[in-house]
Amino acid sequence: MTDLALSDRRLSSLKLDAVIVGTAVEDDALVLLPGADDLDSQRLVDTLARLGATGAAGEVLKVALDEQTPLVIAVGLGSAGDDGFDANDLRKAAGAAIRATTGLSKVATTLAQVGGESSDELVQAVGEGLVLGAYRFDEYRSERPAADDLPASKVTLLVDKARTASTKAALSRAEKIGAAVSLARDFVNTPPNDLYPDSFAKRAKALATAAGVKAEILDERRLTAGGFGGILAVGGGSDRKPRLLRLTYAPTGIKRGTASVALVGKGITFDSGGISLKPGPKMDLMKTDMSGAAAVIATTLLIAALELPIKVIATVPLAENLPSGSAYRPADVITHRGGKRSEILNTDAEGRVVLADAIARACEDNPTYLIETSTLTGAQVVALGDRTAGVMGTDEFRDRVTDAANCVGEAAWAMPLPQDVRDGMKSKTADIANIGAGPGGMLAGGHYLKEFVGEGVEWAHIDIAGPSYNSGGAYGFIAEGATGTPVRTMLHVIEDILAEG
Ligand code: BES
Ligand code: ZN
Ligand code: ZN
Repeated sequence: MTDLALSDRRLSSLKLDAVIVGTAVEDDALVLLPGADDLDSQRLVDTLARLGATGAAGEVLKVALDEQTPLVIAVGLGSAGDDGFDANDLRKAAGAAIRATTGLSKVATTLAQVGGESSDELVQAVGEGLVLGAYRFDEYRSERPAADDLPASKVTLLVDKARTASTKAALSRAEKIGAAVSLARDFVNTPPNDLYPDSFAKRAKALATAAGVKAEILDERRLTAGGFGGILAVGGGSDRKPRLLRLTYAPTGIKRGTASVALVGKGITFDSGGISLKPGPKMDLMKTDMSGAAAVIATTLLIAALELPIKVIATVPLAENLPSGSAYRPADVITHRGGKRSEILNTDAEGRVVLADAIARACEDNPTYLIETSTLTGAQVVALGDRTAGVMGTDEFRDRVTDAANCVGEAAWAMPLPQDVRDGMKSKTADIANIGAGPGGMLAGGHYLKEFVGEGVEWAHIDIAGPSYNSGGAYGFIAEGATGTPVRTMLHVIEDILAEG
């Protein structure tokens, strides 16, 4: 992971290979943002303009002015909003810029000095952007990439107040958040022959134990004893048997009556569709069907790392959906944890079937809030595209989670749960069918999950089928492959709950 450091020294007093500076569009012209005054700014702007720079968001240019001064990596932030640039602008810019530092070692950036929001917020955002933009997954290459092919491994943030506790805390937060999102990405990027229910649960448990978070893994025997029919049915087709992972972070000294949070994440380590087999092309992408689980595990460990005074329990159903002689089939009726029964009409709508058990279990702890996230439906991608999550749930909390997501730069949109879609899920034999009769597949997913949420629990379901994975090349702080969403959203919601008292 990229190391981050702070310095209040002048740019000219540092021996650097390169400095990352911000540019912007102001009155249709390219401008250099504050912080780079030590450089020959007029000459820099003229040179950048001659090279065709406009200051547009995401633009990255490298300039060598002369032998004596560091390379300049100019990253565009676009046009400022009314309040200047915000954390989301800075996170993206830092992410794009760090990928232009391949082969460089002594790198600093003035990005946290552009103004706008408080400097601590900007330090955190730049720190997150640097770590996440530099993220790569090289575990499975037989030859480690050479330093010449890697972005700078350490970056110094040049700031006015490098020594104050709040600046240091902001940087430390960025490191912890960067590590958590990277962990979620690593889980998702790991191939399904290595990351399967038992191995995933064990990896999470080892990390949890090290972080002082209690971990419990239920195997087939305990799943059977506990009546987890959905997890057992979906996982039954694979030789890699299903698991239920539970992580409990319960810090001491929390006030009685403080809200508690349940997190639930879909952990299908590979989704072939099962007997309702998916088509061959792009089936490899279904290794990402445990992105919700990855995010929920990483978030719980992050809450612990930040020592937040709130109880968080993660309930993570893990199964592999394969067709075989022991696979569940269309027409099966499954009895879930808590006794509700589902009629299976399509074995490829398996996420909701495992989540039903997990949500029912999570609600037995009487949480105040429940956030569940999953790569649940292709219909989410059809409706909202690859980068915007769909959020369903109880009205108020759904909107709160949606706002939190947009606030931290993880785009999301609130979705309704219309009665006609629910009507289409009536089963001729059981309590509910696992698919709807008509269009609105994302909403049918939400409706199905709703059946298993306990009375009075404020809940939100975040469908991340599109946003969990980026197949189209890196942009901003989003690397190629897993994105690690919605870790930062869930953190923001939990901190928002804490702030409210
Ligand atoms: N894991 C898929 C959803 C998915 C699609 C995730 C694309 C990521 C990218 C899910 O289990 C699934 O197959 N859903 C079906 C539901 C249908 C059978 C009602 C779908 O979306 O087609
Ligand atoms: Zn499926
Ligand atoms: Zn799935």
